Amino acid sequence: MNLSKVKQAVQTMLKKKQTKPTQVILETTNRCNLNCPFCLVGMQNELQKKHGNTAHELMSREMGTMSMETFDRVRKELKIFGIKKVYLHFQGEPFLNKLTPDFAEQLKSDGMYVGVFTNGQAFTDKMINKIANVEIDLIRFSVDGASEETYGVNRVGGKFSNVLKNMEKVSAAHKGKKTRIEWQFLPLKNNEHEVETARSLAKQISVHFFTKGFRETDPNLTPTNKEYRSKFMKKPCKDIYKQLGFYWNGDVVPCCYDVDGKEVMGNIMNHDLENIWNNSKYNKFRKDVDEYLKQPEKEPDICKTCLRWR
Ligand SMILES: C[S@@+](CC[C@H](N)C(=O)[O-])C[C@H]1O[C@@H](n2cnc3c(N)ncnc32)[C@H](O)[C@@H]1O
Ligand code: SF4
Repeated sequence: MNLSKVKQAVQTMLKKKQTKPTQVILETTNRCNLNCPFCLVGMQNELQKKHGNTAHELMSREMGTMSMETFDRVRKELKIFGIKKVYLHFQGEPFLNKLTPDFAEQLKSDGMYVGVFTNGQAFTDKMINKIANVEIDLIRFSVDGASEETYGVNRVGGKFSNVLKNMEKVSAAHKGKKTRIEWQFLPLKNNEHEVETARSLAKQISVHFFTKGFRETDPNLTPTNKEYRSKFMKKPCKDIYKQLGFYWNGDVVPCCYDVDGKEVMGNIMNHDLENIWNNSKYNKFRKDVDEYLKQPEKEPDICKTCLRWR
């Protein structure tokens, strides 16, 4: 090999190294206690109620909860692969898995940044104490209303009084700790008038408040105020180099919008994460995403309906 070829090979290697994801989303469970109509999991629960069957075209994979055995394996691989940030949610409600505070504790002891998004309904005092002792980096409550009536329409099955009380307890338990506690409000057509009330309630309980742009899963819910709508980024997508996802059973997927396992790259119980990241399926997926502008016909199906990149 001549010198310029060696240089080229080294550059390619370095580029590959730099573009490896440093953060993951970990699905502690894909089950949920709510039926939010804007969310794919929520829609699924609704179907379960109506038809007694969770299978539908949006999310047909099996329901389950991550075991300690699977987590141990994931944890080991995250360290080897060089992951720095772990979010303990994907689909479903993370605190339905009673092991979630233990997962958080172990990841913090590995020196990871740990965050979690939650609907905030399933907390117990024991769980709150445990999680406060762990002192994770971020707890984000998804609360889409500032009254029982509006909240109940969006977070179907949940009680506003319950989540407000839980936010207050979690905030008090973390007083003086470095954990950031947030109230995320998704403004929709039916709740955008309550944003300012929610903001002032958040202030009263010492929780950081912000609004998140709605990713349009149902046009009937789109807020009237354009400022509250999510803005698209221009394809090709870069997220696939920043983050990857684990399902509760150890399956690895390249994107948070792969809710139904359309692009499972491998399972962590059978392969190292490095092997999965470099396997031919993952390489082809990345190539097809990267070359979208040149060859749009090769775009993977999950990207065609992406709610973030257009
Ligand atoms: C799928 S949930 C899982 C975690 C947890 N169950 C919760 O509700 O926070 C993850 C995040 O996605 C958000 N989400 C769900 N559907 C959305 C949509 N159509 N547009 C924007 N955000 C959405 C939720 O508000 C939540 O913050
Ligand atoms: S609580 Fe979270 S996961 Fe459950 S249906 Fe609502 S948004 Fe989806």
